Amino acid sequence: MAPEIKYTKLFINNEWVDAKSGKTFATYTPHDGSVIAHVAEGDKADIDLAVSAAKAAFHRNSEWRLLDASARGRLLNKFADLVERDAQYLVELESYNNGMLLNLAVHFIQNSSRSIRYYASLADKIQGDTIPADGDLFSYTLKQPIGVCGLILPWNGPIAMFINKVITALTAGCTVVVKPAEQTPLTALALAALFKEAGFPPGVVNVVNGFGPGAGTSLTHHPDVAKISFTGSAEVGKLIQQAAGKVNLKRVTLELGGKSPLVIMNDADLNVAVPCAANGVFGHQGQICIAASRLFVQSGIYDEFVKRAVEFAKNIKIGNPTEPTTQHGPQVDGEMMEKVLGYIEKGKREGAKLLTGGKRVGTKGFYIEPTVFAGVTDEMTIAKEEIFGPVQSILKFDTLEEVLDRANNTNYGLAAGIFTKDINNALQFAKHAEAGNVWVNTYFVFQPQLPFGGFKESGLGRENGIACVEPYLEVKTVAITLPKKF
Ligand code: NAI
Ligand code: MG
Repeated sequence: MAPEIKYTKLFINNEWVDAKSGKTFATYTPHDGSVIAHVAEGDKADIDLAVSAAKAAFHRNSEWRLLDASARGRLLNKFADLVERDAQYLVELESYNNGMLLNLAVHFIQNSSRSIRYYASLADKIQGDTIPADGDLFSYTLKQPIGVCGLILPWNGPIAMFINKVITALTAGCTVVVKPAEQTPLTALALAALFKEAGFPPGVVNVVNGFGPGAGTSLTHHPDVAKISFTGSAEVGKLIQQAAGKVNLKRVTLELGGKSPLVIMNDADLNVAVPCAANGVFGHQGQICIAASRLFVQSGIYDEFVKRAVEFAKNIKIGNPTEPTTQHGPQVDGEMMEKVLGYIEKGKREGAKLLTGGKRVGTKGFYIEPTVFAGVTDEMTIAKEEIFGPVQSILKFDTLEEVLDRANNTNYGLAAGIFTKDINNALQFAKHAEAGNVWVNTYFVFQPQLPFGGFKESGLGRENGIACVEPYLEVKTVAITLPKKF
């Protein structure tokens, strides 16, 4: 049964309001492409209102700013309690609007509630230093929240991204205006309602749905927004940094795309490496920034690996993501499906060997078969560009030195993985891979304790880990002259 859709308006100053223009836009379920709700479409006027509310909530005398840091932590834990209470509903809504498998949505929400509690525990540990400056000075630093933060979300992990960004900003004591992705507006609204229920003061969390040009650009160009945190395409990430430079030098955190290499050495345990590599690129239908989209297999095991990879892909069960036994659901929308099918055609045209998959499934919804290409070479488009779909591209290599250079030969640098039993190979790879995350004999390790982010065009800054709050803080240095020496 379809989950109930309780909220479709904008959430500003703890109130549900229509867009100033009165406009709405349709949102769909990717299972069959049917409309499931009409959602208020925010634009500049609504962003202005939301930023004003967030600015008022950030005033030095506001209820939010006067809260003790430990009380902020307790409020965040209260929010975690509510997320856990409503987890089943949130998971179903995520799956319905996004096409995410139920199991994956459960995994994300469990990880998110761990994140909230992890960050909540940091709220009262934000502290500066006392510094032995020269002369008769008493010097110390204060770490203070940066102000109103604009948080722009992608559609591929709506709940996880919302929680991650909002919670980090709130831990620091900031206030936020969230612009969810236009493909997946619903779970952000359900989470906004939980902030209100938890007792967060008006204006601390605001959610304005809408499109990139419009709501998104109004936020990135707003002079009262002190920081933008964005996850999405590298193309838009660059625009956001430009807008920041043009308007008010907003601080910017960017988590962008990837073309992550996964290297399988001759000595790898194929019973582990084959499924891990498959999950690394077919998981969430390939719509993950850290997808293992360049699979380098050493020549000694290449043929055997390819045979097993094809077998694995053929046995993946495709179906409605809201059914618990399904292993592979739809792409998020028709546009993404067409984009991925376009890459598959390019792969064929440029001479890669299509060994399984490659086609749309059915005529309703946005399903694509798990697809395996072998014989992929570095200059092919499918080895260079982010596909964001269920396409495994297998490349052959001979030596670690060779594969390191080839793996690093990309503008991206989000993740990299290696399967080997040789500790020296693993350590050399970990040292030289140009990527923010390196995984050895595993793939997809993602936890609140572990910093996450990208080298090169995969991003700017890090999320998660103890330092995650820093980008939401300003450091203030205070120096006081002491009257005279005793
Ligand atoms: P996108 O980067 O256009 O959209 C992400 C978010 O940015 C959405 O909320 C969108 O409304 C907003 N946005 C778009 N243009 C904007 C602008 N000019 N100013 C401010 N906000 C703006 O990504 P899209 O179009 O959904 O996907 C395109 C490609 O990006 C995908 O094929 C994939 O390769 C990559 N991508 C990477 C993600 C990641 O996790 N790093 C997530 C989503 C997409
Ligand atoms: Mg876009």
